[in-house]
Amino acid sequence: MPSLKKTFKTHISYAESALPAPIQKLDRVCPLVQAKSLAFLMFEKPDLGAVENFLIDFGMHTVVLTEDQLVMRGSSSEPCIYVARRGPRSRYIGAAFNVSNENDLLVLQSQAGARRLPTEIIPGGGVGVELIDPAGNLLWLVTGRKQVNPIPVRTPLHPLTNGPGTIGRVNKTVRAPLEPAAVVKLGHVVLQTVDFQGMARWYMRHLGVIPSDVQFLADGSPNLCFFRLNLGSTPADHHSLVLVGGLEEKYEHSAYEVVDLDALGQGHNILRANGHRHMWGIGRHIQGSQLFDYWFDPNGMEFEHYTDGDVFTADYEPQYSPLDLSGIWAWGDDVPKSMGPQHNLSTLIKILKLLCNRRLSMERLKLLGSALSAPPRPWL
Ligand SMILES: [Fe+2]
Repeated sequence: MPSLKKTFKTHISYAESALPAPIQKLDRVCPLVQAKSLAFLMFEKPDLGAVENFLIDFGMHTVVLTEDQLVMRGSSSEPCIYVARRGPRSRYIGAAFNVSNENDLLVLQSQAGARRLPTEIIPGGGVGVELIDPAGNLLWLVTGRKQVNPIPVRTPLHPLTNGPGTIGRVNKTVRAPLEPAAVVKLGHVVLQTVDFQGMARWYMRHLGVIPSDVQFLADGSPNLCFFRLNLGSTPADHHSLVLVGGLEEKYEHSAYEVVDLDALGQGHNILRANGHRHMWGIGRHIQGSQLFDYWFDPNGMEFEHYTDGDVFTADYEPQYSPLDLSGIWAWGDDVPKSMGPQHNLSTLIKILKLLCNRRLSMERLKLLGSALSAPPRPWL
């Protein structure tokens, strides 16, 4: 039996300017535009009322609920962050990002073949264009949306934290209210894709996103990237978009920022008390450093609460680390089995189809398998 000490692994990370062989730098693409923020996500859902019930307990507010459409907002001035249309199955449709002005839309129309959106179909108003990514997901670029009055949320408790040598709280207690974790904003979306390189290039070109952290397979090839928006000297979230290479085109999860750790914890209580299905957390991520808590919506799609994430300016150098499950989080509960490789008939069929279509090689399949099969926290 190995000693416990031998199972601890130090997180390895290399700066892009000092990559040892055989680690390959992620190819860059000249961007057409630079998106300014992630606006909202679009889904198809068979039961809009059930989703609304979950999202209210998750900390969002209803803007519109009709027989055919659900629009939800956070507490920021964004008019909406989540849009669902009624349809036969639960699925991710796409993402909308804000751009600076209409000129960006014209560039996308003339150079990328973007289709102008009828203004009446854009939740929150404004103007926009539509693209379809290589995996078939919609990407909307919008601008001029009418901002709304923010909904007041309580002051974060971070400045009141006590520690050795640091007293932030005297003659005061920590009594965060038991209430849904007020979702302030939509933070990021994570997509699995068969063609990591192709999707990475496509999103860099059409959103102007830049890599924060890249994870590579044993042969040194990049297979996952945390992308942030290029806001120049203005700090941007460590990631607004994550792409991970895998066996299918799939929505992995989306993440929503809450006020602080106590909001995350009290929101956990509310979701648990109201019978929603917990997935993973509370814990601390490594890439992005967020404190996280993951939940399933009524159809089993993953939604993450987070707080205390990293923010980088555009000049912060990308870091590279090996892709494995242990790199997903620093501490907290063991990673759920659903996030690891699924050894079942469905996976076998996916693999056979990809091999037949030459979208996957045996060599790459082995690399993916070895990256994700090692037990990440053997002591858990
Ligand atoms: Fe996340």
